[in-house]
Amino acid sequence: MPTLAALMKRIVILISGRGSNMQAIVQACATEGWPAEVAAVISNRPDAAGLDWAAARGIPTVALDHHRFTDRATFDAELAAAIDAVGEGAGADLVVLAGYMRILGEPFVRRYAGRLVNIHPSLLPAFAGLKTHQRALDAGCKFAGATVHFVTPELDHGPIICQAVVPVLADDSAERLADRVLLAEHQIYPRAVRWWVEGRLRLDGEQVTQIDGLPQGWVMPG
Ligand code: GRF
Repeated sequence: MPTLAALMKRIVILISGRGSNMQAIVQACATEGWPAEVAAVISNRPDAAGLDWAAARGIPTVALDHHRFTDRATFDAELAAAIDAVGEGAGADLVVLAGYMRILGEPFVRRYAGRLVNIHPSLLPAFAGLKTHQRALDAGCKFAGATVHFVTPELDHGPIICQAVVPVLADDSAERLADRVLLAEHQIYPRAVRWWVEGRLRLDGEQVTQIDGLPQGWVMPG
């Protein structure tokens, strides 16, 4: 019989900053008793506040400063080596990008295909890339939101796991809208990660299905 430890999925979370989505995932994993552990938090920025938060909770952290590398391929290879070293070399089952602000090259993305997820603060395929909230306001959108998706080599594309819609209010600034979207992110990202670790997602081409038929889209209050 496999041991409990062997059945636990190892999650590695990549961050670049404050790591509030990382915190939401760590807390949901612990309080909901997922069959998983956050085996490491890795940042490309040594000063990322989220690293201190994780370390204070006994989660192994790695700071891999991308400035030390001359090209993306070398950095990505070092990042993959750090991910594959977790669990005494057993490696990660799932790699979660949570506010990770660095483009990953195609070899890296292919290495973790089907086990690499991201959250983006827009209703993809609208507003891939940066400054999503300001662009949504500039376009006169009445709704904004967040998307959790599998990562493919094309930036902010890839099969959509789930989405949350939030209203845009009349006097919104990009900051206010970002705060509202972030609350939704904290709801949906843990849910999506939990589905993955419990084997409740089916990926078929561009389509992602929750196998229990649970809703994969939500409208959040304003
Ligand atoms: C989130 O809005 C995420 O969607 C975006 O960057 C922000 C990161 O926030 N990619 P945090 O570091 O998780 O607090």
